Amino acid sequence: MSHFSYQDGVLHAEGVALPAIAAQFGTPTYVYSKAQLLQNFRGYAAPSKGRDALVCYAMKANSNLAILDILAREGAGFDIVSGGELLRVIAAGGDPGKVIFSGVGKTVAEIELALNKGILCFNVESIPELHRINEVAGRLGKRAPISLRVNPNVDPKTHPYIATGLKASKFGVAFSDALATYRTASALPHLDVVGIDCHIGSQLLDDAPLLEALDKLIELIDTLASEGIVLHHLDVGGGLGIDYGTGDNAPVPIGDYVSRVFARIDAWRAEKYEGRPIKVIFEPGRSIVGNTGVLLMSVEFLKPGEEKNFCVIDAAMNDMARPALYQAWMDVKPVTPRDGATVKYDLVGPVCESGDWLARDRELAVEPGDVLAMMAAGAYGFTMASNYNTRGRAAEVLVDGDQVHLIRQRENPADLFALETIVK
Ligand code: LLP
Repeated sequence: MSHFSYQDGVLHAEGVALPAIAAQFGTPTYVYSKAQLLQNFRGYAAPSKGRDALVCYAMKANSNLAILDILAREGAGFDIVSGGELLRVIAAGGDPGKVIFSGVGKTVAEIELALNKGILCFNVESIPELHRINEVAGRLGKRAPISLRVNPNVDPKTHPYIATGLKASKFGVAFSDALATYRTASALPHLDVVGIDCHIGSQLLDDAPLLEALDKLIELIDTLASEGIVLHHLDVGGGLGIDYGTGDNAPVPIGDYVSRVFARIDAWRAEKYEGRPIKVIFEPGRSIVGNTGVLLMSVEFLKPGEEKNFCVIDAAMNDMARPALYQAWMDVKPVTPRDGATVKYDLVGPVCESGDWLARDRELAVEPGDVLAMMAAGAYGFTMASNYNTRGRAAEVLVDGDQVHLIRQRENPADLFALETIVK
């Protein structure tokens, strides 16, 4: 069930009419639904109940403290990719003991921070990184729990920019090198080799590639066990897609995917792994927050052209980068639809780049001053926003039933240059 719907002809987030939010907070503004967030998270958490499993939300998708706090209180762990993200988890009341640290370029300072805060595991992506973590742990008198991100070379059938598990990818350790890398890791004195992980890409509508990758990890766990390297957790990564309204196949429902993962793991453990305990970790980002948010924007001008008609809006590529970066198709709906003839528009922002468009060739009946909602904008929206053209980042609002909470103020221009110094 979607928590964004038209009620009496007006688009609502739960019980709140979106035009009222635009009037109160201005535009562009991101609006999130708490009920949708909980529904998505519980899609993973409910079938995991009673099992040794942990949902580590990939917070790069949306790292607002209010979102992290809600998920932390639901029992979520977090997948982080920087020291900054770890500090956000802690600021939101999350448990560092449920944090896994991914990414190819962890710095010494980030590793120190993570070890001092006692994270669950480092997801290691290379041999030099293994050595770096080992050295830092030794210096601090600690042991570092590590997992290797193995690159299973499975085609995720998604956009090349967000496919990460192929041979040509910068991520992970090649499947063929994995065994040797595990041997290296287990010989290092300050590391505890505890797990294995992978992440093959994002916005996967079908779970077949995810399950194929899981099979390859299982194969490797068996090989490692036969060498005496016994792992305690299996991290299947993230990647499940959402419905962007493109009319393609619908994504596999979260619960179906999670159940299939457990069915595979149960069958394998019973048959081959001698019932050894193994914690299952999920790293979903988009499927938790994507359809939890919309981006509200206002129409500034209508600009007819010879070849194209432009609808100039007050949101831009700095607010939502996905169309410019990946040619992503994002659905745009009027919050208060008008009767009357539609015109085909390109929706463009005020930023001085031809690439500054948010939607193309959309049939809309709109007038200046109308408010539009970009749907399914909750993931990789605000977190990828920039201050290009000295544009303050959008406000963020959380709706809970009929309550509206401002969870991040709109940035002022003065905030943007506060850290700068003029040299006389
Ligand atoms: N784990 C790792 C190691 C990742 O790199 C990612 C995403 C995730 C988990 C979460 O993946 P998800 O469940 O969200 O698919 N900015 C792009 C998506 C980049 C994904 C990066 N990695 C976009 O807007 O489509």
